[in-house]
Amino acid sequence: MGKRGLILGIESSCDETAASVVERGARTLSSVVASQIPTHARYGGVVPELASREHLRAVVPVVRAALAEAGITFADLDAIAVTSGPGLAGALLVGISYAKALAFAQGLPLIAINHLEGHIHAVLLQEHEALAGSSPEPSANGQGSPDAEPALALVVSGGHTHLFLARPVRGSWHYSLIGRTVDDAAGEAYDKVAKLLGFGYPGGPWIDALARFGNPKAVPFAFSQIKTKLHLVGKTPRTKAATTAPIAALNPHFLFSFSGIKTAVLRYVELNNLRAEAEARAARLFPHRFGHPEPGTAGLDGESLDAAKTNLPKPPTTREEALALCPQQTLDLVASFQHAVVGDLMKKTFAAAESLGARRILVTGGVAANRELRSRFTGEAQRRGIRVAFPTLALSTDNAAMIAAAAWPRFEAGEFAGSELSAEPSLPLGR
Ligand code: KG4
Ligand code: ZN
Repeated sequence: MGKRGLILGIESSCDETAASVVERGARTLSSVVASQIPTHARYGGVVPELASREHLRAVVPVVRAALAEAGITFADLDAIAVTSGPGLAGALLVGISYAKALAFAQGLPLIAINHLEGHIHAVLLQEHEALAGSSPEPSANGQGSPDAEPALALVVSGGHTHLFLARPVRGSWHYSLIGRTVDDAAGEAYDKVAKLLGFGYPGGPWIDALARFGNPKAVPFAFSQIKTKLHLVGKTPRTKAATTAPIAALNPHFLFSFSGIKTAVLRYVELNNLRAEAEARAARLFPHRFGHPEPGTAGLDGESLDAAKTNLPKPPTTREEALALCPQQTLDLVASFQHAVVGDLMKKTFAAAESLGARRILVTGGVAANRELRSRFTGEAQRRGIRVAFPTLALSTDNAAMIAAAAWPRFEAGEFAGSELSAEPSLPLGR
């Protein structure tokens, strides 16, 4: 068995198959991500049956590539970490079954990681790496170490919009849920609005790119404060994942809701006769796009799928390209949508940081790749004299380096998973 503190992370909770080798939670030796975006793009969203099938295809080559890139063999590893939830049941199961078999065959301990905890560790891993780059050792009292101070973490992605207080406790991390969405995740709203307007999947990068050329004040979208706890008591939130988190127990000031703005965009599109234009654009950009198929029916295989996978259109990079794609009114709508979403994320995150006395904010998950979000959070943090950190773009969206990094404190604490480990599609973090 190896002695270097090498953990192989495996991630398959949604539409990326990923594997990575990380040393002692602080140095990435390799990070390989096989994205399924080309497969799902033609449906305008993730199709669970296709996701499982693609994970099955990709998991072995992706793990091999991660070991090769790290220049190691299975014999050098100290443990295997795998995402056990939340996520799509069939997709999670592919990673878990493979990780279990591998751990058994190699005689290695298995560590189960919550996907949301993984996203938080994407930022911590990066902070460790930055620290190692600037000075070889953190100071003796741990000052300046990413593990020295509590942080308010906003995990904002296609499946989640959650606020956690992450606290270092004797070498491991404890999480308390502070806030969350009561319906759609922010990334889900990005994806749905992009689909409605005839742009590509996933929608976030398209809206991010187009919003730069629109007027963010053109459409006055407003988020109403989630009023009382009472109307939520006993109600199951309609999010895609982590359905069990206890909404009723949370401070309503830190609850998010993104289904209203999605409906407001739809209403604006209808009132301003933008629908035909959006549908024409979708047909032009995605001639191979289908509705969600029934499992096992036509559209799941064949030449048209391969044709659709190549030449996927990319978001525009200049104003001319943006205006060739859609009218100024649509650019203004997109900019106003993004401005409202980012403003709401910001308002509640900073309010939670202030109420908890957190001097440090971590923003992570796919939506943390957003340019407007990064610049406005950075400006607000400077204004308030607190720190904010984001992962690199590659570590913002799903990856396995964050899973291997999150596993390190669990490895040191000897928190290993048993052979009964199974997928938990609604696994909560920080009850
Ligand atoms: O973390 P992630 O890869 O998967 C989940 O755990 O959900 O996040 C994917 C989500 C998608 O909804 C995508 O539209 C959004 O992140 N996203 C963005 C950007 N890049 C990805 N949203 C806004 N701006 C971006 N630049
Ligand atoms: Zn994720």
